[in-house]
Amino acid sequence: MEQQRANQKIILTGFMGVGKSTVARFLASLLKCKKIDLDAVIEESERRTIADIIGAHGEAHYRRIETANLNKILSQKDARIIALGGGAWTIEENRRLIKQHDFTTVWLESSFEHCWRNIRFSKRVRPLARNKMQARQLFHERQQFYCLADWHFVVRPDLTSFQIAKKIAEEVF
Ligand code: S3P
Repeated sequence: MEQQRANQKIILTGFMGVGKSTVARFLASLLKCKKIDLDAVIEESERRTIADIIGAHGEAHYRRIETANLNKILSQKDARIIALGGGAWTIEENRRLIKQHDFTTVWLESSFEHCWRNIRFSKRVRPLARNKMQARQLFHERQQFYCLADWHFVVRPDLTSFQIAKKIAEEVF
């Protein structure tokens, strides 16, 4: 059992604004391991923001960069907790790579209104959620992909990110 826990590798997925990065940070500190944020890795390796990449070259180009970076981090020996960007899990090739590298996927599931509130109050520019109508449509289109994750974890609005991380650590690990 201990061995199994030590080897468990987790991917957090879910819609923009659900809190993947923050939960990943708490989860990593609870489990005393490293967390990797795919969006941050992309921005660092490309030396520009995701909004700039999508603005200049479009979403299809961005998805290729995303898959290349995902592939790179999945192979890192110390990668145990990875937070994806909200669209990464919707790409079949990414799901295949994630399974191939033996990660367990946790979908942070939440209402659209909860995600939208966080998107609206965040400083980050999210080029694929520029207005509520566009974001809502994307949210609904993506449920069919998110529900392919191994675990579905309902993010209740009364829970803090730390409490969510603690529950995931108790239940998944
Ligand atoms: C995206 C979500 C973003 C980022 C990019 C595209 C998406 O990440 O990867 O803007 O397609 O949902 P967050 O989910 O961390 O906002």
